[in-house]
Amino acid sequence: MHLSEKQAHRRHSVMGQMTIAAAALALLAAVLVACAPITAPARDATATEVATEAATEAPAEEATAAPAEEATAAPAEEIAMVGDPARGGYIFAMTTGCGCHFNRDLGAPAGGNKFEGPFGVVYAPNITSDPETGIGAWSETDIVNALRLGMRPDGSQLHPIMPYMAFSNLSDQDAYDLAAALKLAPPVVNAVPASELTAAPAPFTPANPPPAVAPTEGVERGAYIVAIANCGRCHTPRGENGAPDMTRFLAGAPLQDTIAPNLTPHESSNISFLTEEQIASFLLTGVYDDGTPVEGPMKMIIDSGTSRLTEADALAIAQYLKSLPPVASE
Ligand code: HEC
Repeated sequence: MHLSEKQAHRRHSVMGQMTIAAAALALLAAVLVACAPITAPARDATATEVATEAATEAPAEEATAAPAEEATAAPAEEIAMVGDPARGGYIFAMTTGCGCHFNRDLGAPAGGNKFEGPFGVVYAPNITSDPETGIGAWSETDIVNALRLGMRPDGSQLHPIMPYMAFSNLSDQDAYDLAAALKLAPPVVNAVPASELTAAPAPFTPANPPPAVAPTEGVERGAYIVAIANCGRCHTPRGENGAPDMTRFLAGAPLQDTIAPNLTPHESSNISFLTEEQIASFLLTGVYDDGTPVEGPMKMIIDSGTSRLTEADALAIAQYLKSLPPVASE
């Protein structure tokens, strides 16, 4: 699949989706990303409906109006952005998946896992396509808004434990492709308890608008993947208020009983002396250059994420890490 190609699908091909559904599902295997409890009324989101809904909220450059005399030849529904689920399976790997939603008893991303903190209690929602207890009634646009803005279809805000700040970097097509892949998660009925928050989550406006087109190669491509995969969630140290210290972006941080190492090319870090090829090979195989297999949290990131990337994308990440300003670990 060519990520370099921006695929603005003009029509929703149900036949096409059926044939590639199996491939996409294989990639979606155990865990799925994105979240939001069901708030929309249960209904069947038919292909046409999805296409129409996407059309109404398609980004400006996609919905560029045809000149008046051609308007009849290109009705609005035909310029809907529609996701490609097979391609979405790859985007899913790029996000490194999300075990938070995975319900071990049900063997599906049917949610229910409890997260407690000063903010209260949050339960990971059911993100399977069950229309009543999952997100089966959501359109692709609903899912894209939940992914990139943390916004439910009713306009309410999701808790930032769901990494919409990272997903807000997803390009339009990548977000729709991921949404299309998510819609293929087989329905599993599981009603998840409502979260109990001490305060309503603050509304979220992305610092930068998502790119209409994802970078296709080199350092920019690496930066794009690292942002979406949220590598900084572990590798960037946090300040006293718990927020990531962006002046020390990816400079390494303590993590439970271990350390997420410094990923900048500072002389004290492995990144400074590993070659781009060695870093890429680690991300693809989970084996260090001395033959030691990775363990712990990074193993999960590699298993459900970076090991499924193309060699070119793994190299783009390595190139990007090597290009970062060197910052000493604390
Ligand atoms: C869940 C936390 C977590 C996330 C998210 C995470 N990492 Fe890691 N990473 C770690 C830990 C912990 C280690 C150390 C593993 C070890 O000790 O074997 C590590 C090790 C590494 C190493 C080896 C560094 C060295 O010094 O040899 C690289 C490279 C790396 N991570 C890159 C990434 C990239 C790229 C991403 C995003 C795609 C990422 N990590 C996301 C926790 C994480």
